[in-house]
Amino acid sequence: MTERTVHLAYFSPAGTTRRAVERVGLGLGPAAAVYDLVEAPPQEEIVLSKDALLVAGAPVYAGRIPAIGAERLRRLRGDSTPAVALAVYGNRAYEDALLELRDLLEENGFQVIAAAAVVAQHSIFPNTAQGRPDGADLEKLDAFARSCAERAEAPFRRLALPGRSPYRKPMGVPFRPSAGERCTACGTCARICPAGAISPARPRESGKDRCIACAACIRVCPQNARAFRGPVYTAAREGFALKCRARLEPEFFL
Ligand SMILES: Cc1cc2nc3c(=O)[nH]c(=O)nc-3n(C[C@H](O)[C@H](O)[C@H](O)COP(=O)(O)O)c2cc1C
Ligand code: SF4
Ligand code: SF4
Repeated sequence: MTERTVHLAYFSPAGTTRRAVERVGLGLGPAAAVYDLVEAPPQEEIVLSKDALLVAGAPVYAGRIPAIGAERLRRLRGDSTPAVALAVYGNRAYEDALLELRDLLEENGFQVIAAAAVVAQHSIFPNTAQGRPDGADLEKLDAFARSCAERAEAPFRRLALPGRSPYRKPMGVPFRPSAGERCTACGTCARICPAGAISPARPRESGKDRCIACAACIRVCPQNARAFRGPVYTAAREGFALKCRARLEPEFFL
């Protein structure tokens, strides 16, 4: 394992996928390169050699991986390079997302040696799975990383993963964050928005059609001015928390 260079890639608008990828990466060795597909997506194709090891993560949106994240992840190519795939979801279900992530990586020249569906705080309804991944999840990710190190040196065998292809139809959600009174029009949210939904000139308004509800703007706002708001949202958040209150556990595939 020691001779492999570890590369991390994540599309993580609200930050939980990043935490999971970093934790698994930590167990595999120092990262030679980090591709943050929200903050600094590669502008051109990057090819990882056979002796690299990629840990790639994406959140689950309506049982799929978000199209923008998929498009950005496709800029990384492998040369039969081993990869670990992590689909991170908000305690409802991950459906076809892990399968889709594995297929995308393999189409791009990687060999997915291990995969996991990881539970994390829901980015639209943060009172669901609040604070996850927590200590118990992180311990499981550490054990998973140790198994990944072994798998990377063993002959490749294709994983059997849950999910169906053709994948379910992508679906949006009806909620959009808005800027509240504390907004100073600093433009930080407009710079990070992966969908180009916020005008740098008028950051208080967000283009409702383009917005994918990813919550990156909420995470980066220095004034804590952005939030999902309104009575319909609040009622949906409470209903969702009730429906998804049973704790789901991460699943690992090796
Ligand atoms: C548009 C959208 C759709 C989502 N759909 C699902 C889903 O189908 N199942 C689920 O369990 N969580 C779902 N979530 C929650 C995210 O998968 C979860 O919060 C994830 O940890 C977000 O990753 P991030 O923190 O890296 O952005 C959704 C979140 C968003 C924004
Ligand atoms: S980051 Fe916050 S304060 Fe800055 S423009 Fe956006 S909503 Fe306003
Ligand atoms: S405006 Fe929408 S798409 Fe843009 S960062 Fe905010 S939630 Fe994400």
